Amino acid sequence: MLVVAAPGETQDVILSAVAAQDLEAEVLADLDGVAGPWREAATVVVADDQAERLVARALPHRGSVYLVGPDRDELSTWSAPLSAQVIPLPEGGAWLGSVLADGSGRARAPVVAVVGGSGGVGASTLAAALAQLAGERSSAALVDTDALGGGIDLLLGAEQSDGWRWPRLNAAEGHLGDLRGYLPVVDGVSVVAMARGPALDLAREPLAAIVASLRAWHTLVVLDPGRSGSAAAREAVRLAGRQLVLVAPGVRGAASARQTVGVLDLDRAELVLRGRRGGGLPADLVAEAVGRPVLGRLPDDPGLADAAERGEPPARGSRRRYRRAVAGLLDTLTGAAHG
Ligand SMILES: Nc1ncnc2c1ncn2[C@@H]1O[C@H](COP(=O)(O)OP(=O)(O)OP(=O)(O)O)[C@@H](O)[C@H]1O
Ligand SMILES: [Mg+2]
Repeated sequence: MLVVAAPGETQDVILSAVAAQDLEAEVLADLDGVAGPWREAATVVVADDQAERLVARALPHRGSVYLVGPDRDELSTWSAPLSAQVIPLPEGGAWLGSVLADGSGRARAPVVAVVGGSGGVGASTLAAALAQLAGERSSAALVDTDALGGGIDLLLGAEQSDGWRWPRLNAAEGHLGDLRGYLPVVDGVSVVAMARGPALDLAREPLAAIVASLRAWHTLVVLDPGRSGSAAAREAVRLAGRQLVLVAPGVRGAASARQTVGVLDLDRAELVLRGRRGGGLPADLVAEAVGRPVLGRLPDDPGLADAAERGEPPARGSRRRYRRAVAGLLDTLTGAAHG
């Protein structure tokens, strides 16, 4: 990565974002040697007060250039000549972190959102179980943005663990590096949980930045957006490459799922059917009714409700049949071979 910035506040912000992402950057203030790194760096970050001098060099056009700084006039004047995207400071600090994480070439974990096609169908439980099984294999993160959900840390029995919860993360300004040291971790799952208390309006920017950071340090990121349709829930499903919709059995389950898919704009939705094969509607009929493909099935497990009350995480408190189904979904989501 190339950073074009003279010593000063903007350079400090850029370099601490670079350090937070554990990246290495070549920093140039003197532009004589800029042509080579300009050509070769994967990402270029330019401080606003260096933009004019850089443009004067008439360098070839290239992608992944970010113009960063507090001066709106400089940013808007030089973004086109540099073909640069603009990151205003201080409010764009979190974006800067996610931009750097994106450009780092580090492996990026898939992001899966689990949404209930109707209320209480077991979406949060499935989200937690997926994260847990992924956490057993390597490492996973579970992010709860459901303002009405009561906190997914309860489901994992993690409500007593130390660590940051949304109010603190939501207020976090600036870049985010490796969050693992700050979050409660249960069975290999880093948990970002909605704290119980007054409903919070999760600002869009911290959510994107937090998910970007989690993707860089885990092998799977599972989101539990809830069904409220809040801005945070919408942003969560937008950030998810895979959108699982858990469908209750029967005609009403399919009808609710269809509406949920429409209202929350789940254009990548893949359906998971609750209940046994042969119970409820056949899979092809559900797919047709909802207008989305069926990815798999999830059996009923009457022990799950009690396990949740005891604070026993679903992957431990469930029967083998439920776990096997979740493991099968996980294989499909992570592209692993069955076995
Ligand atoms: N496969 C299952 N079989 C039987 N009970 C289940 C199953 N999955 C979850 N449950 C139980 O159903 C209840 C609701 O589960 P959960 O909170 O996961 O649903 P949800 O879809 O997230 O609900 P909400 O709409 O409130 O977000 C809990 O008591 C849970 O233990
Ligand atoms: Mg839920």
